[in-house]
Amino acid sequence: MLDWDHNAYYHRLLLRQLPQPCRLVLDVGCGAGVFAARLAQRSEQVDALDRSAEMIEEAKRRTPGNVNCVLADVLADSLPGKDYDAIFSISALHHMPLQDALPVLAAGLRPGGVLAAVALPRRDVRRELLAEIVAAVGHRLLGAMFLAKRLLGSDRGFAKDPGRAAMPVIMDPPLTTHEAALQAATVLPGVRVRRLLFWRYLLIWQKPITQAS
Ligand SMILES: C[S@@+](CC[C@H](N)C(=O)[O-])C[C@H]1O[C@@H](n2cnc3c(N)ncnc32)[C@H](O)[C@@H]1O
Repeated sequence: MLDWDHNAYYHRLLLRQLPQPCRLVLDVGCGAGVFAARLAQRSEQVDALDRSAEMIEEAKRRTPGNVNCVLADVLADSLPGKDYDAIFSISALHHMPLQDALPVLAAGLRPGGVLAAVALPRRDVRRELLAEIVAAVGHRLLGAMFLAKRLLGSDRGFAKDPGRAAMPVIMDPPLTTHEAALQAATVLPGVRVRRLLFWRYLLIWQKPITQAS
């Protein structure tokens, strides 16, 4: 009852990275399409990509007409579009080798476009002990607050989506936040990677605008 959806909690953080105005965005590993539907309110067109046929069928049911739901593996297939204003990914990057995925996503952005992703780090008690303790306590406190909101009917209070049961998940992420930051920096100079409290890391990178000589 006190559990809640950490991915949904970070939607607002990611939406703040959206350039405005926004013509075309990509959601990589879109799952059931909940975030793609939110992007669709802020962008002319959204491509929502996932390699799970079940997830793409669910995403098609839940998203409006300006969302193009595509069954594809981001590492094996071409991206559905190019020159994206922004590329987002929630809890999917830890499903794939970061050093393979990041160059593909970087190539898909227009100059000045933004890559913003939230993914799961492996537990790193040595570097992140304080965050782990605060997260464990905060998870329960916020869980109680969100439950009260749901009971009062004021909002969904980050309730877990029943559709998540069928979602492909990885329980044992391969990289700590620190390792993800080191790997990302070798591929994307200037990338920022930081631990978020509730068992996620945030990766943000803006594609450089190269000056004509
Ligand atoms: C934990 S789910 C997260 C879904 C959604 N972003 C959310 O926040 O609810 C991870 C998703 O990434 C997808 N995925 C994993 N590897 C992928 C790949 N190489 N190409 C496309 N999708 C992938 C999975 O099929 C799964 O739906």
